[in-house]
Amino acid sequence: MQPLKRRTTLILGGTGILAAATGAAGLLWGQGTGTGLQTTGGQELSEPQALHSAEGHLQVKLSAAPGRVRVAGRDVDVFSYNGSLPGPTLFLRPGDQVNVGLENRLAAPTNLHVHGLHVSPEGNSDNALVSVDPGTSFDYEYRLPADHPPGVYWYHPHRHGSVADQIFGGLYGAIIVQDPQPVPVSRERILVISDISLDAGGSIAAVSAMEKMMGREGNLVLVNGQLNPALAALPGERERWRIINACTSRYLKLRLDGQAMQLLGLDSGRYQTPRDVEEVLLAPGNRADLLVTAAPGMAVLRTLPVDRGSMGSMMGGSNGNGQSRPGPDGTVLATLTVTGAPAAVPGPVPAQPEPRDLRSVAVTAHRELVFAMAMAMGMNSDTQGMGGGTGSGMMSFTINGKPFDPARVDTSVPAGAVEEWTLRNTSPMDHPVHLHVWPMQIIEQAGRPVDTPVWQDVVNVPARSSVRVRIAFDDFTGKTVYHCHILDHEDSGMMGVIEAR
Ligand code: C2O
Ligand code: CU
Ligand code: CU
Repeated sequence: MQPLKRRTTLILGGTGILAAATGAAGLLWGQGTGTGLQTTGGQELSEPQALHSAEGHLQVKLSAAPGRVRVAGRDVDVFSYNGSLPGPTLFLRPGDQVNVGLENRLAAPTNLHVHGLHVSPEGNSDNALVSVDPGTSFDYEYRLPADHPPGVYWYHPHRHGSVADQIFGGLYGAIIVQDPQPVPVSRERILVISDISLDAGGSIAAVSAMEKMMGREGNLVLVNGQLNPALAALPGERERWRIINACTSRYLKLRLDGQAMQLLGLDSGRYQTPRDVEEVLLAPGNRADLLVTAAPGMAVLRTLPVDRGSMGSMMGGSNGNGQSRPGPDGTVLATLTVTGAPAAVPGPVPAQPEPRDLRSVAVTAHRELVFAMAMAMGMNSDTQGMGGGTGSGMMSFTINGKPFDPARVDTSVPAGAVEEWTLRNTSPMDHPVHLHVWPMQIIEQAGRPVDTPVWQDVVNVPARSSVRVRIAFDDFTGKTVYHCHILDHEDSGMMGVIEAR
């Protein structure tokens, strides 16, 4: 309210952050998010390189490689696409053709998945079953339908067995499908939120079997590869934040106290009119399309702790909880400073088309998918039940009693079917369930019907609970997958193959 006073506060605040960074940097690097205060701060938010399609086409080369990259204000040894973390942002339009030449310079096989895009899962399109060996390349080609929903999507590796390691190590990037009718804003920002643990030497820290069972959470929570970057706006400006939860396992519960937030939608789902929100909950893989109307002052974007269950009872009473425990104020992600002369009032947000609603459509089949975890009894010969030997050796992760087998089709659906699936979680931990290619409409959660159309491609199924969804298997045929998006669980076997034909 009084500009002079506010400026004083800001200067003092800046000094405080600087002192913390210089005085405690070493400590914080090893210590993690326990204090709620991360290092650095003050650096302006950097945006990933932007690559825009033109005349219906985008050609991109993505080189996945280990190497020295600037992360959290330091040069460290991680993985990245094209030497930056996150990789470049792909700006697309409905109807585009996208060609991605993926070069694998890692020591292990990899591949590429375009998470959330409604494109073919076959051949060299969004084929999750492709494996690209070290030292080789693969040319992907994606054709977006002319009516592809606008929204926030992302790309990441999907090679079963090493998905968690590769994403945790730094391999991810944003994809934006532009709106046919732009939303008037002062500025658009991409915020890719990821987590990583680095050792004292600046390499990706080793992950224990227990952390893999829980789903690893990194000590550092990054925004576009930075720790607590600074954002600036004028009072009254409307910003559009495209937020991606690229964390391997961490759930984000985002707050920006003192600022007005409106949610345009989650994943490819859009509300007809933006919703006022105080918090945004993003399971791993979820995205938010958010409007922030800047109010004078300094606001901290933070993520609050989320209880996603534990394995306490399954681990014979030992605390099987690998989750980091930030303080009640959560972990600081970024700082927004709003000062200066008020900006002009932005134009209205155009109304969105009425979302499709499968509640009034005849369902062609009902299915149940049971997500389960069980202690493997000793080291007997039955490695089938132990996640195929990868990941966590002590616990099996299954869907309908089976760990992932790429050679088996678990679910066959006729092309064009509209199915209702009950996603049942019998375990004491939450599982964020993801289906490729076709988004899911949430019909019922914890026994209660959902009264508006809500479309997501990652749907959290809480511990010992279930969620009902409906899916329209339109436009494409072929084999793809559904899985838990806690990627350590996916790598340990919690994934199934679906074929539409
Ligand atoms: Cu974001 Cu199957 O993945
Ligand atoms: Cu996906
Ligand atoms: Cu899971």
